[in-house]
Order: sequence, then structure tokens, then C-alpha cells
Amino acid sequence: MQTVYKALKWAQNKIQASISVGAAPCVCPQHKTTRIGSDLYVYSQYKIDAEFLLSAVLNVKRTNLPLIRQEKLTPTQLKQFKKYIARRVKREPVSYILGSCEFMGLDFKVNQSVLIPRPETELLVEEVLKIASKFNKKSVLDLCCGSGAIAVSLSKIGAFKDIVASDINKDALKIAKENSLKNQSENIEFIESDMFEDLRGKSFDIIVSNPPYISKEEFENLKPELHFEPHIALFADDGGFFFYKKIAQEARKYLNTDGYLLIELNSNLSCKIKEIFEKNGFKDIEILKDYAGLDRILKCR
Ligand SMILES: C[S@@+](CC[C@H](N)C(=O)[O-])C[C@H]1O[C@@H](n2cnc3c(N)ncnc32)[C@H](O)[C@@H]1O
Repeated sequence: MQTVYKALKWAQNKIQASISVGAAPCVCPQHKTTRIGSDLYVYSQYKIDAEFLLSAVLNVKRTNLPLIRQEKLTPTQLKQFKKYIARRVKREPVSYILGSCEFMGLDFKVNQSVLIPRPETELLVEEVLKIASKFNKKSVLDLCCGSGAIAVSLSKIGAFKDIVASDINKDALKIAKENSLKNQSENIEFIESDMFEDLRGKSFDIIVSNPPYISKEEFENLKPELHFEPHIALFADDGGFFFYKKIAQEARKYLNTDGYLLIELNSNLSCKIKEIFEKNGFKDIEILKDYAGLDRILKCR
């Protein structure tokens, strides 16, 4: 039977090999990243992936694995771990394999009907929370809510009276509702809507959105992991601008006086997106960067 230590080593090698097929890795010592083909993989991510999967199988915290490194896996645990690694080797994201992911310190259910919430989207939530507490904003719309990560986090951490979360995808809304229950955030109204279509008559102090924004042209260079995510959550027509244009044209009708609009940016399109919002009469437009130094949030009134 394998020890925890040996199982981890085996799994790390398997994952690393699957990512480096056909290409020699080139490690950048400055940024501790490994570039393999079109992948930019954070150095030691193989290790982290294997650790997450093994800690789920053993039902222990990832940080406790070193303490049990010489313990042996039971045959059932080993079988389960091998199944997980086989899926990861096919490039399925760890969050889909485990059916959950962490966002803003909360636990969210995910499956292939929803986008896996990204760390950079936490900045969007933090910015909404800052504006809400500074200007006493009480109502918020999470447009294109997916798993409900933004709306549920705002409900748990903020002091909003009204929160509406909308999405066109019924299956995504089902997961969002489950996440709301799971995190005991009961003040969210979920609405199935094609953008603003079924939100007529409502208005909000803040509208926040992480819309689909990958253009068809960017499709070729995507990591294989992204192909597991729902295309409806990723891709936008019109060179990636479709949803930005729609929001710029229609959001004003759904914003209260002095309301704020915050949207996540495709960093490659940020300058043009800013122009689109300027042309549609938005003011005090600011672009905020993420931790990688990329344009990530557009904030305006
Ligand atoms: C990039 S995901 C964002 C999910 C979530 N807000 C997050 O940040 O993790 C975009 C979401 O937009 C939804 N969507 C796509 N087209 C839409 C439309 N026409 N109207 C409303 N929602 C749409 C997708 O179903 C998906 O859940």
C-alpha cells in the first residue's frame, strides 16, 4: 500500500507530465512560473493540485498532509485518488473534480453548468463592498450571476437590503440558489433573465457584473482546462464586446440616481471598453488593476 508521501509524488509527476506533453518546460526563476506550450502554469501548482485532491480523499486539511506523510492509504482511498488523478490528467479543473471551490473565504458548489469563480473576481466584490459602505448603498444587482459567487459573498459580508442575482442559464441559477442556501444568505432574489429583459421596472444602487468576455479569436489560445467550462459563460460575440455594449446601452435605466456600475474586464479590451462606456454617457470612469497588474475592473457612475 502507498504512503501519503509516495501517493503525492506519483500524482504530482502524473499531472506535470500531462501538462508538459510535447513541450519542454521553461522555468522563469524571477516569477517562479513554468511556460509549457501555450500554458503558463504557476510553479508548484502540480503539487498543490495533487494535495487538494488527496486531502479531499482522506478528508483532512491540505496543510495537515505533511503530518501524516508516512501513513498508508486504504485500497478504497487509493482507488478514489487514482480516479481523481486520471480526471486531472485529462485537464479537468480540480474544482469540478471536487465539485466545490472557495471564493471570498466561502465554500461554493460548482459543476459544469457554472464558471469556476476566479480569484480576480474577489477584487470586484471588495470594490462593491467599499462603495456600498462609503456611500451607504443598499441594493445591488449581480447581472450574469453564474454560481452566485458575487451575490452570495455580498449578502454574507455586506449590509445590503435588496440583492437580485440574474442569469440566462436555468442550470446555473439552480446552483446559485443551492449556494445561497449552503451559505445561509437568504436575502437574494434569483431571476432568470436574458440580460435586462426580465428585470424591467427594477432599479439598484449598484450593478455588478462579470459577463462572458472571451472573443472567438482568443479561443485558440485557451488552456485545455477552459474547455470544461460552459461556453455560454465564457464567450462573447462582436470580438468579445457584445455584453459590454449591451450593459453600456441599457444599465442606466436600472441604476438609481448616483448609482454605480462595476464590471469585470477582459484586460485585452480595456481601452475600447472604456470608450464604449464614455460614449454611452457614463462618468467618473476608473479602471482598476488586478494583482497581476492587468486592467480588471471598470467602475463608473
Ligand atoms: C463569466 S460567467 C460569470 C459567473 C459569475 N458571476 C462569476 O463571476 O463567477 C458569465 C455568466 O453569464 C451568463 N450569461 C451568458 N449569457 C447571458 C445572457 N444573455 N443574459 C444573462 N446571463 C448570461 C452565463 O450563464 C454565466 O453564468
